[in-house]
Amino acid sequence: MSIKIAPSILSADFADMGGAVRELEACGADAVHCDVMDGVFVPNLTFGMPMIKAVKKHTRLPLDVHLMIVSPERYIDAFIDAGADYLTFHTAATDKTEEILKKIKERKVIAGIAVNPDVPLSAVEKYIEKADMLLIMSVYAGFGGQKFIAESLQKVESAIRLRERLNPELIIEIDGGINLENIREVESFGVDIAVAGNCVFSAPDKKERIRLLQGKRKSEKNKG
Ligand code: DX5
Ligand code: ZN
Repeated sequence: MSIKIAPSILSADFADMGGAVRELEACGADAVHCDVMDGVFVPNLTFGMPMIKAVKKHTRLPLDVHLMIVSPERYIDAFIDAGADYLTFHTAATDKTEEILKKIKERKVIAGIAVNPDVPLSAVEKYIEKADMLLIMSVYAGFGGQKFIAESLQKVESAIRLRERLNPELIIEIDGGINLENIREVESFGVDIAVAGNCVFSAPDKKERIRLLQGKRKSEKNKG
């Protein structure tokens, strides 16, 4: 099984999101990563529930919603109602992590917790058993097109050990600066999903780029 690729629509044309997600599906993407930013938790603003609801109509791919907002507990139901299939929030943005995880899981959505590069895994270890997914940021959340922080690989390695010890079912996702130079190393550690914004959207041939990131041979390109 190859690593799953979730292109981030942060790098897409905001005036044609329907077209962008249809193209991603046609190009073999595994999920659509949706970056929700509030201008407070991160110094950038993107979109909210209406965008999730709008893109949902254009694709059957799972929507992997990454909340970079303060007090995400305010909007959990709203993002699930809008169509999130994976819903991830930053534990540093709330003091209600346990309640949020419980709520997301009750609604049968994949519940993820995210850590920025300056948040040690020790800060989230107590939630690992209750989460479905751990999102490791390999850049500081806020903008697409940043450089991959090499130290993130050590965190990935520690996360894999944490998974073995506490929750073998845990999905590990990496987000930020993923490209063809670092994806195989990331994959070799055992990461399940890699987000890729700039690397996919800057490609002259997105289908080929996604296939290369997935590490699939040409004959494998249409298999799951
Ligand atoms: C950054 C976002 C990322 C970003 C990834 O805050 O969470 O998902 O879009 O973009 P690239 O792959 O360009 O670093
Ligand atoms: Zn993201």
